[in-house]
Amino acid sequence: MTRPIVSARGLTRAYRAPRPARTTTALYPTDLDVAAGEAVGIIGESGAGKSTLARLLLGLDRPTSGTVEVAGRPVDVAAGARSLRWLRRETGIVFQDPYASLDPRMTAGRIVGEPLWALGIEPDATARRERARATLAQVGLPDDAADRHPHEFSGGQRQRIALARAVVHGPRILVGDEPLSALDVTVRAQIIGLLREMRVRQNLTLVLVSHDIGVVQALCDTAVVMQSGRVVERGPVDRVLRSPEHPYTKRLLEAVPTLP
Ligand SMILES: Nc1ncnc2c1ncn2[C@@H]1O[C@H](COP(=O)(O)OP(=O)(O)O)[C@@H](O)[C@H]1O
Ligand SMILES: [Mg+2]
Repeated sequence: MTRPIVSARGLTRAYRAPRPARTTTALYPTDLDVAAGEAVGIIGESGAGKSTLARLLLGLDRPTSGTVEVAGRPVDVAAGARSLRWLRRETGIVFQDPYASLDPRMTAGRIVGEPLWALGIEPDATARRERARATLAQVGLPDDAADRHPHEFSGGQRQRIALARAVVHGPRILVGDEPLSALDVTVRAQIIGLLREMRVRQNLTLVLVSHDIGVVQALCDTAVVMQSGRVVERGPVDRVLRSPEHPYTKRLLEAVPTLP
């Protein structure tokens, strides 16, 4: 692999609860490399540590031990939000529930333009508005979308707004934590198509957390299988899904009714 765009070494995360005193290890020592332009799908059942790993890669959480590098730079969460601005520029994030991440009082245009302001990318309000509109169009929303509020959109459209907001500043890496899980089958297929397009057009690197193996199959080159805080298998999606090596992956796939 040429120098990976995302690289984790010996990454761990333990959660400590004071009363009763106990420690949950959400992530055991984990190494992960993602090449530029690669789409990595992280699968595994609920509680496997998928979201924990994604948050650590994004600098949204501080590892108990280990390191993360993005684009060759160390992610130092302890240094504070200001010093991680470069990381916010390099990355975009989409979560499962778009409604929770969209401010209901703001128009879609302002929501999408906001990162350009917050990241110091576009100080001019008119230019921000233009870029927001263009990005809304790019994710397939109608012309008047920019002037409407989140509640005026369907769930699928709201996820498109969240996606527009995640990519408006031109990040090289898009991380999705179950971004399609709240959507019905038809809308999910549409957003998969959109993400595929964006991957090609913008050479996006994709890190996609999903308990839905079909989504990972449709979008990713590489599958990473997690069980109880550990990566138990990793390989090309087709290989992992067609001839899984780890017993856990086999069980996980047997639970899926049909794979094309
Ligand atoms: N903020 C937290 N405090 C305590 N435990 C947590 C926290 N976040 C996650 N965990 C625990 O870490 C483990 C992994 O969780 P998570 O990364 O959310 O898994 P997944 O995304 O695969 O469902 C689980 O046992 C979960 O209960
Ligand atoms: Mg999760």
